[in-house]
Amino acid sequence: MGASFTQITSLAKRRGFIFQGSEIYGGLANTWDYGPLGVELKNNIKNFWWKKFVQKRSNIFGLDSAILMNAKVWEASGHVGGFSDPLIDCRSCKNRFRADKLLADYYNKEDMAEISEGLDAHELLAKLSDYQIKCPICGKRDFTEIRTFNLMFQTHQGVTQDSQSLVYLRPETAQGIFVNFKNIYHSSRAKIPFGVAQIGKAFRNEISPSNFIFRTREFEQMEIEYFCHPDNSLSEFKIWQKTCYQWLLDIGIRPELIKLREHEAKELSHYSQATTDIEFAFPFGWGELWGLAHRGDYDLSQHQKVSGKDLRYFDALANKHYLPHVIEPSLGVDRLLLALLFSAYHEDEVDGEKRTVLKLSNRLAPIQVGILSLTKKQILVAQKLADKLSDDYMVDLDVSGSIGKRYRRHDEIGTPYCVTVDFETEQDQQVTVRHRDTMEQKRVGLDQLGVYLEECFKE
Ligand code: GAP
Repeated sequence: MGASFTQITSLAKRRGFIFQGSEIYGGLANTWDYGPLGVELKNNIKNFWWKKFVQKRSNIFGLDSAILMNAKVWEASGHVGGFSDPLIDCRSCKNRFRADKLLADYYNKEDMAEISEGLDAHELLAKLSDYQIKCPICGKRDFTEIRTFNLMFQTHQGVTQDSQSLVYLRPETAQGIFVNFKNIYHSSRAKIPFGVAQIGKAFRNEISPSNFIFRTREFEQMEIEYFCHPDNSLSEFKIWQKTCYQWLLDIGIRPELIKLREHEAKELSHYSQATTDIEFAFPFGWGELWGLAHRGDYDLSQHQKVSGKDLRYFDALANKHYLPHVIEPSLGVDRLLLALLFSAYHEDEVDGEKRTVLKLSNRLAPIQVGILSLTKKQILVAQKLADKLSDDYMVDLDVSGSIGKRYRRHDEIGTPYCVTVDFETEQDQQVTVRHRDTMEQKRVGLDQLGVYLEECFKE
């Protein structure tokens, strides 16, 4: 049986992965802060993604665009007109809900799009009525009409607060890529097919943030826009399906916990020829982890129209200008981190006692090497070792408490190797290296430790 939400949230708080945001002030609805271990895990996830999709790919280029953009970007992209959720109020208890969430709850599904995409407000209301769906708070059936609620956070730039100064916090990193398409292809001399990758914060004023870090109002995305010739776009889409799925296995997600879900025609945006979600088996059910969309030339043609700038690609061989099609793999960092915690969580029994182990891969583990000493006398040696190993690894010097408890703590936070300086070290110049999953212990000479660990951490 997999881990429950309570097991994961309690471990995350107790061990310093994730804390409630603004906790000492009573929190702020579903905001979360990443603690010392959480930020390491998050950075390792982002590095793993960057390495695979930017460093190791000669035709994918990195970008870090501004969060605040000209408001026209969001008019062109369709977010000002169409990026909204259906809002409904209960007249009886005055609570407010997402109408599609009420419907999804009725079906016991987390993914609202799967249930309600393609339904307009009128059809959605009719479904709530057909199924006699009640207010989850007061149990009455006295709902208002459905209104649309734009999900973008608005603010004003500068000292005036009028429509000229209106700016939005970006709801996706993707548009920063589209508006830089020409800059990147000219400066990098890129040839189609090529991609642009970006990692960054996105903000959505979600009506129902829920399930810990699964759905929040502030989150991080890792997005790629892959520009290709229209004739090859469907085959590129298929290649990306496989690439994304394989990457999730490579990062350590257990295969039985993920599946591909192709969107039905009624779920597709009007410009999309195909969309596939990679879903993860969260404790509340299958939920979208990674969205892969064929966006056609929708975004570039919209920006070309609204900005008045020619955004076509020039194919020198064919002596032709055209707007490329785009394949977009879009992955949430926070959602992936949550999936990794669920996937890595294990419990077993050692000497009649429960042991919790986070089986994260060596590369992802927030602490890669724990350095322990048995008595105060050995602290100096352990300290020296920690200083040396911290050049190559994230280390944690852990010198007090019973050795068993220290091993348990490191198992629970996913530290793959613990190195213990013990009573014999002074005489034989050896330390004990313990492996998290097998709990096997091996004596290794201090002069061999670097090489030994290097071997352990080889990909
Ligand atoms: N540019 C396309 C795009 O943003 P999306 O399906 O809305 O597509 C992509 O989002 C990914 O971002 C999702 O698969 C999910 O991993 C993550 N994501 C979206 N909304 C989120 C939220 N409110 N909280 C956490 N992660 C979210």
